[in-house]
Amino acid sequence: MRAALLVANWKMHGTLGEARALATSVRDGIKRPRGVEVVLCPPFTALPAVAEVLAGSPIGLGAQNCHWEVTGAFTGEVSPAMLADLGCRLVIVGHSERRQHFGEIDAQVNLKLRAALAHGLTPLLCVGESADERRQGLTFTVVEGQLRAGLGGVSPDDLGRCIVAYEPVWAIGTGVNATPTQASEVHGYLRGLLSELASKEIAETVRILYGGSVKPDNAGELCREPEIDGALVGGASLQAQAFLGIVRKAAARGGATPKE
Ligand code: 13P
Repeated sequence: MRAALLVANWKMHGTLGEARALATSVRDGIKRPRGVEVVLCPPFTALPAVAEVLAGSPIGLGAQNCHWEVTGAFTGEVSPAMLADLGCRLVIVGHSERRQHFGEIDAQVNLKLRAALAHGLTPLLCVGESADERRQGLTFTVVEGQLRAGLGGVSPDDLGRCIVAYEPVWAIGTGVNATPTQASEVHGYLRGLLSELASKEIAETVRILYGGSVKPDNAGELCREPEIDGALVGGASLQAQAFLGIVRKAAARGGATPKE
């Protein structure tokens, strides 16, 4: 069974002081995680401070975005090499907020994903349909396009190093999560595509997370679905107790003893 993974996406939240305090509370609440992996993705500015707090703990560090070049005249950008240097092990690529507000297109997401792999980072590729697209019956078409484009040119072995997150845009920050059945349907479809792009064996190892209004009171039923391998958490990851509640629910998946 794939170990559950909980990724906290703090988005654009947290002064240094706030980031240190939140990371410390999460670290102290998860001393010995069982059956679950946890990664915190603070804003770029807080990465070194959070790295310090998490040093020696089982909690990983990740970033929310990256550029695809190593260095260069790209004002305002941060390269995967810089993230690796700070101790990041994961980077989110193709989040819908980047696509929506910053005009990121699939070709850029693909460059970012491949650059992340080249620097030893685990790319977490986000896909998801808007409310309109779902209404029009385009959910599978949209996520398939995003997945195929995001993973274009990636070898089967490298594909096995990626993580996918299904984040329906209509569920992000709205309080309306996809039901376990809705999410499972899409996750199953994505896994089928991964089998086609790599192999069934490799696809079985890739974690597919669900994201969109995950809270302590819905995390259990979502994470119990065999196709849902954990969660990418936004709002609820900004409160240590809420995030720890989600971690506990995910750890209980598959009968592992929740341990803090
Ligand atoms: P919320 O958990 O706030 O809905 O955000 C989800 C998300 O976008 C995580 O990347």
